[in-house]
Amino acid sequence: MTTLVDTRPSKVMANPGHGDAFTDHMVTAHWTRADGWTVPQLGPLVNLSMHPGMIGLHYAQVVFEGLKAFVQADGSIAAFRPRDNAARFARSAARLAMPEVPASMFLSAVEEVVRADADWLLDNPQHTLYLRPLLYASEAQLMLRASNEYTFLMMAFLAGGFFGDQVDPVSVLVSRDFTRAVPGGTGNVKCAANYGPSLLAQRQAQEAGCQQVVWLDAAEHRFIEEMGGMNLFFVRGSGADARLVTPELTGTLLPGMTRNSLLTIAAREGYAVSEERITVDEWRDQCLSGAITETFACGTAAVVTPVGRVRDRDGDFMIGTGTMGAVTRRLRAALLDVQHGRTADPAGWLHPITI
Ligand code: COI
Repeated sequence: MTTLVDTRPSKVMANPGHGDAFTDHMVTAHWTRADGWTVPQLGPLVNLSMHPGMIGLHYAQVVFEGLKAFVQADGSIAAFRPRDNAARFARSAARLAMPEVPASMFLSAVEEVVRADADWLLDNPQHTLYLRPLLYASEAQLMLRASNEYTFLMMAFLAGGFFGDQVDPVSVLVSRDFTRAVPGGTGNVKCAANYGPSLLAQRQAQEAGCQQVVWLDAAEHRFIEEMGGMNLFFVRGSGADARLVTPELTGTLLPGMTRNSLLTIAAREGYAVSEERITVDEWRDQCLSGAITETFACGTAAVVTPVGRVRDRDGDFMIGTGTMGAVTRRLRAALLDVQHGRTADPAGWLHPITI
């Protein structure tokens, strides 16, 4: 096995982007039906050696998570809501008939990788360590059945912005040809198989001059569900009277950690918040009438990203003035303030990691 070379040239450190700047370490553990989990080991980030007939590769018995560690106002480091990610990881694993990674093991792996690679955060405290826990079926077996062997990895990369350094509004294409998730499917868990099939729709969006795709429900093709791999919020009204709406979790949406955090933060900021079903026609009509003033996407990767323009088969429409709205700006700042420990953390979302 080859240890990867140090990938910290100043160019990467200055502009890490999203998903390229892998750090130096990872935690690895293996599970077998006979013996359960091995003791997780911290080691260098290395290429994997795997059997070509591995179940995870062929039948997509693979789940993952995404969470971040942030430099705090006092220079320390904390992970954001890792216990909640551990719980969702366990739910995703259970849905795919995989063994759960115990929360304590998940948390220790987060801590070990952050501790080992904390120096990646020294150059710019606005950068974050994006942690990527992965669980895959590692048994070489091509009968279609649940694997008897699994591998758990916790890796990390240095993250700048998902959409670049600026927080410019993104344009979106409403996907009319494809569906992200179906009732009874896996839309409400974080499995790899939800993401690969989204890429053709994403390519269509790009061909239509948009950055992202908006997913509608599978049954009626009317209700807005998600945007790419992120949740959506709509703002009705403005100023102190602004009200926030996010599509309710019908079972086909991913219960995003950022979505959940923003519901709490928005209420704390004094906004009325609700979870409702909202159709694409309502979205368009209410944008045109001025009732909806802002729309933004949210996710661990996207943080809070405004949506400026929508392209759909029945015509394009603009959201507000097409720029980042005041509510979006305020909630983005409030979220980042909590994540960076610049304001109180009454819900106990920050998990300090001693370096
Ligand atoms: C994240 O927001 O962290 C995600 O996991 C979605 C990403 C795959 C686009």
